[in-house]
Amino acid sequence: MEFINVIERRYSVRSYRPDPVEPEKIQQVLETARLAPTACNLQEFKIIVMKTANRREELKRIYPRDWFSEAPYVLCVCSIPEKCWVRRDNKNYSDVDAAIVMDHIILAATSLDLGTCWIGAFDAQAAREVLGLDDTMEPVVFTPLGYVQGAVPNRVKKPLSDLVINLD
Ligand SMILES: Cc1cc2nc3c(=O)[nH]c(=O)nc-3n(C[C@H](O)[C@H](O)[C@H](O)COP(=O)(O)O)c2cc1C
Repeated sequence: MEFINVIERRYSVRSYRPDPVEPEKIQQVLETARLAPTACNLQEFKIIVMKTANRREELKRIYPRDWFSEAPYVLCVCSIPEKCWVRRDNKNYSDVDAAIVMDHIILAATSLDLGTCWIGAFDAQAAREVLGLDDTMEPVVFTPLGYVQGAVPNRVKKPLSDLVINLD
């Protein structure tokens, strides 16, 4: 699939089939995350790969929607803020690094016909407990990973004229 079509094809999937995902696809997705750029190439992130089977209740504590645990996998990108690059004015880039890693995961998954959905509205304390994270690790974003159920919803995006500021 052309890269531009991957971008056009991606959407937030909120209904999944329970069908297994081939281990090679998981590996390919994770490999694209490994190649993600990070500030100063510090690569201070972890990707937690959870099988959802028998974890419904734990996953509900993290994010209560039923579809969150429908797919066979849930992934979480965690940053390690104290080890990430900090700009001179003290802006820590750990969230930016983690978001790029997740975007690689999500676009790679789309190219392999898998569905995903960025999840930021999770319970961070529950995530820490369920994933067994120590204080140095920050859960930044989750996604389910699996085969899509149902049709593509209508997506509303602003026109470019609302988004681009040209400084000529
Ligand atoms: C950082 C971030 C956090 C998000 N958190 C959630 C979330 O907690 N739950 C959810 O259902 N969707 C979440 N989304 C998905 C957005 O609602 C979705 O991207 C947006 O509505 C545009 O739809 P699209 O992804 O289909 O283009 C999040 C997206 C981003 C980028």
